[in-house]
Amino acid sequence: MARAATIHVCSDCGHTEPRWHGQCAGCGAWNTLVEEAAPPKATAGGGRGAGRARGSTNAALARTPTALRDVHAEQTKRLHTSIGELDRVLGGGLVPGSLVLLGGSPGIGKSTLTNMALGHLAQAGHKTLYVTGEESAAQVRLRAERLGPGALDVPIVAETDLDAVIATLDAERPAACVIDSVQTLHAPDLTGAPGSVGQVREVASRIMGVAKANGTAVILVGHVTKEGALAGPRVLEHLVDCVLQFEGERERTYRTLRALKNRFGSTNEAGVFEMRSGGLVEVLDASARFVGEATGKPGSVVLAAMEGSRPLLVEVQALVSPSELVPPRRVVTGIDRNRLALVLAVLGRHGGIGTGTADVFVNVVGGVRVDEPGADLAVALAIASAQKGVALGTPERPLAAFGEVGLTGELRSVGHPDRRQEEAAKFGLADVVAPPRVTSLRAALRAAFATAREEGPVRAA
Ligand code: TYD
Ligand code: MG
Repeated sequence: MARAATIHVCSDCGHTEPRWHGQCAGCGAWNTLVEEAAPPKATAGGGRGAGRARGSTNAALARTPTALRDVHAEQTKRLHTSIGELDRVLGGGLVPGSLVLLGGSPGIGKSTLTNMALGHLAQAGHKTLYVTGEESAAQVRLRAERLGPGALDVPIVAETDLDAVIATLDAERPAACVIDSVQTLHAPDLTGAPGSVGQVREVASRIMGVAKANGTAVILVGHVTKEGALAGPRVLEHLVDCVLQFEGERERTYRTLRALKNRFGSTNEAGVFEMRSGGLVEVLDASARFVGEATGKPGSVVLAAMEGSRPLLVEVQALVSPSELVPPRRVVTGIDRNRLALVLAVLGRHGGIGTGTADVFVNVVGGVRVDEPGADLAVALAIASAQKGVALGTPERPLAAFGEVGLTGELRSVGHPDRRQEEAAKFGLADVVAPPRVTSLRAALRAAFATAREEGPVRAA
């Protein structure tokens, strides 16, 4: 087969050019031209475009629509990876013929997770394939040795040439395949470097072709940039069936897996894992651990959060300290920076707790991310506790809270209040400070400080 010609398409306006230019002649945008395989030309006398003048109709091409109820939809059997948290986030296992994009920053455990999943499938008698473009087969083997017996049963191919990978997939027809990573494969037809937008898109769409044809469930591993976007693979999000994000901090052991998009399940699910010496272990009692580890010192509050459809208790810590800097530092881990700005403003205006000239640090312990407004109240109380140097609750029973803080100092209800309350009660934290029982931030501060220990404030000099 002759090498396909390529064209350069502006990702903003769709203008095409035969060659790459820094500026798009169509819309004037810079650096938007992306290389793509040129669409096959219609040959005279044949092909789809032949004999069809614009505006004319061709009765032979007309299709007969089918009523939806008559459409044959097979209930496909899903592949269970035996990693409960992964299966749940996927919506009940891998769907044959589907494409899953697994994103995460380097070192988070993507290769570990996928190798373990394939290992379990291989042990269950499914045909699997691990394509590594990033590490050598020997490196993958060394990792697999740590991951238990199943992991070593997975056949591996170390390859970066897309044509070779496609041919292998066609010849092997595995039930499940992992491409680690989509950014390392390259289509020889395109001149762009591996990982460039054009390459990544071509790699994914061609792999999708064979996956659908052979019923292979494919997991594409993709790296995430510093900004948190799937580098290059952003353009894949609409193409794939499912986008999973693996996150957490490399230095910490806890990792969460979330579905950002799922054609076969809910995007509310999240799974918690812990990286151990023998690979990733599902954390089913995350709340128990986080509550057990909560310090109960000034600046510590337990947040009754929701991780997808499950309640999760996490410790929110805050530190307020005098600053020489103008403007002072606002450092957050695990919550949104803008939410902190809002909470600080409302605390100052409606709660009588000003932090204007102090540095404020907020951290969700364990590397967990809570991206919900329901975290506001716990953040606010942790900051108030840190600011006053007063511990809330007792070391055995730290204060728990949840609720959204509104701009006028009111507290707003958030989803699943009963499930959050129940989870807190399960760990002996019965009196949760939350709406609708408390309706304003001021009332919440009063309720929280009423639980303070008698010892009195520990003030910094
Ligand atoms: P890896 O799966 O290679 O990450 P990614 O593919 O996302 O880049 O895992 C990387 C880290 O995990 C690495 O720093 C070592 C650690 N690790 C463990 O702690 N225990 C293990 O059993 C394995 C396999 C890795
Ligand atoms: Mg890897």
